[in-house]
Amino acid sequence: VTPRKMSFGINGKLNGLESKTPFLIGVSGGTASGKSTVCKRIMEKLGQVDMDHMQRQVVCISQDSFYRDLSPAEKLKAEKGQYNFDHPDAFDNDLILQTLQDILAGVKCEIPAYDYRTNSLMKDQITTIYPADVVLFEGILVFYFPKIRDLFHMKLFVDTDSDTRLARRVPRDIKERGRDLDYVLNQYMNFVKPAFEEFCLPTKKFADVIIPRGADNTVAIDLIVHHIWDILRLKKAENSSRQHPYIYQHRLA
Ligand code: CTP
Repeated sequence: VTPRKMSFGINGKLNGLESKTPFLIGVSGGTASGKSTVCKRIMEKLGQVDMDHMQRQVVCISQDSFYRDLSPAEKLKAEKGQYNFDHPDAFDNDLILQTLQDILAGVKCEIPAYDYRTNSLMKDQITTIYPADVVLFEGILVFYFPKIRDLFHMKLFVDTDSDTRLARRVPRDIKERGRDLDYVLNQYMNFVKPAFEEFCLPTKKFADVIIPRGADNTVAIDLIVHHIWDILRLKKAENSSRQHPYIYQHRLA
């Protein structure tokens, strides 16, 4: 066993990871389950949020940045709440796959923000993702397609009760997404709820960790953060072993 293999053998999930390859974490769960908050807490606990993007060891991106451009007819439907934003085909899944593959290859990526008021990407608001040690990718359907799902080193599912999610989604969509109550409830009953049951919920079985109650579950988040720390430590050890192979071999012996 070479020292390199040994260092990664400590944790099965790390096998095959190159030191420059980020550890990729998928975070899924129904709408308003608290995915973004879970990601934010993980980043806060790792003490990354105030760091410069270039130095960051942990970054977070959203599946919403990969919504497809709508045709004029689809735009009209979306304005009336008749477009299904919860179907797997609503996303540019080839672009998701390509972007995650680039991230894993350590290639710098540019991700646009999404504007829910206009139902379109904000191509002037771009976040550059520099090669990072840990990348969180969150969204309702990030575990749906096997090719995308198989790229994650760790999969989290935020499991929040559906009444709680609806109670959060209604005021959020009215305040932050410029919708009215009728729009939100009709969209929820016609598209969001059935698509959750058909496409999102069945992907829970692929998760490595299911987080009940979302961001309120500080114990689960602490455990995950400790795991990420272990990964970063191992990667650091791996990097320094390349610089000082003798010392590293000696330590492992
Ligand atoms: N959506 C919408 N209008 C759009 C695009 C998306 O209403 N133009 C809705 C979809 O119906 C989908 C939801 O946005 O259900 C996906 O975002 P969601 O998961 O609710 O947001 P996050 O902030 O990522 O989730 P969380 O609250 O779990 O952090």
